[in-house]
Amino acid sequence: TKQTLILGIETSCDETAASVVRGGTEILSNVVASQIESHKRFGGVVPEIASRHHVEQVTYVVEEALNQAERTIEEIDAIAVTEGPGLVGALLIGVNAAKAIAFAHEKPLIGVHHIAGHIYANRLMKEMKFPLMSLVVSGGHTELVLMKDHGSYEVVGETRDDAAGEAYDKVARTLGLPYPGGPHIDRLAQEGKPVIKLPRAWLEEGSFDFSFSGLKSSVINTLHNAEQRGEQLDTKDLAASFQESVIDVLVTKTERAVSQFGAKQLLVAGGVAANKGLRERLHETFDDREDVELVIPPLSLCTDNAAMIAAAGTISFEQGKRSDYALNANPGLEL
Ligand code: KG4
Ligand code: ZN
Repeated sequence: TKQTLILGIETSCDETAASVVRGGTEILSNVVASQIESHKRFGGVVPEIASRHHVEQVTYVVEEALNQAERTIEEIDAIAVTEGPGLVGALLIGVNAAKAIAFAHEKPLIGVHHIAGHIYANRLMKEMKFPLMSLVVSGGHTELVLMKDHGSYEVVGETRDDAAGEAYDKVARTLGLPYPGGPHIDRLAQEGKPVIKLPRAWLEEGSFDFSFSGLKSSVINTLHNAEQRGEQLDTKDLAASFQESVIDVLVTKTERAVSQFGAKQLLVAGGVAANKGLRERLHETFDDREDVELVIPPLSLCTDNAAMIAAAGTISFEQGKRSDYALNANPGLEL
């Protein structure tokens, strides 16, 4: 039987991406045009600049994805596009590009939730086994998502304030590190020791929710207090202490969620899944367990890409879900 060929498009933040995926599991192409260099000097993503770049890039990126996959648009079964959440102006570019292609070539159109995409990046590595738990940690999200079947998502815990990646980026900014700060803190943390006392937000007993704004404030205060006393804090130790606090909470709550819901797999997703410290701790915690399989995608599939959108879109397509031409960007879309 012929396997489904899906063209995925992703423009929710600062990557313009397109990809062709076969059967929901096999990447034929995965093209990502990053805008990081354009946003760096502003210390974060500037929405208006992001939209302009997407407009300039999206048709080239789609063409390149088809070329690299050695497929024509006529061979594609459906167009899957991120409809939310994300920056509304950025999302609109992808959604309108997808609608135009779908309309011109009479192809089905499928709106995809960005987080569903991050989770389905894992299916490009390993077939899913249900029930599964997914830890989604990115610049915009920190969530524990329970899946009992394909396309079914139950958020069992989420951040009440900053996302994990957001906390990394804000702390990095305070330390004078370039955007995005996560990888820089990660690198410093490898060289430092977690000797500085910082809080861990466990929240109410049994809660799977997260909170990182207190930790972020605590790092900033520690730094300022030291400055006022004329002391020079070791940035490496501060980075290591911050990272240790984030990882302790993330992994402890994830382990509890995996056990409580009897998850057979733990899928890790989002840009922060690139973190060396987090990957190490997850391997230490789960590698010896026979009841649950740990899956962490390679870095290129952890950060924003369109293969993950095509992979999630494949399931929607096979389940008969279709979007119509009224499909709109939805920055606050619920999973
Ligand atoms: O998933 P992603 O590419 O974009 C969003 O959907 O948000 O995640 C980007 C986030 C940024 O906050 C970045 O600092 C963080 O992932 N990040 C990291 C690392 N690499 C990227 N955070 C910690 N350690 C890393 N190695
Ligand atoms: Zn993302």
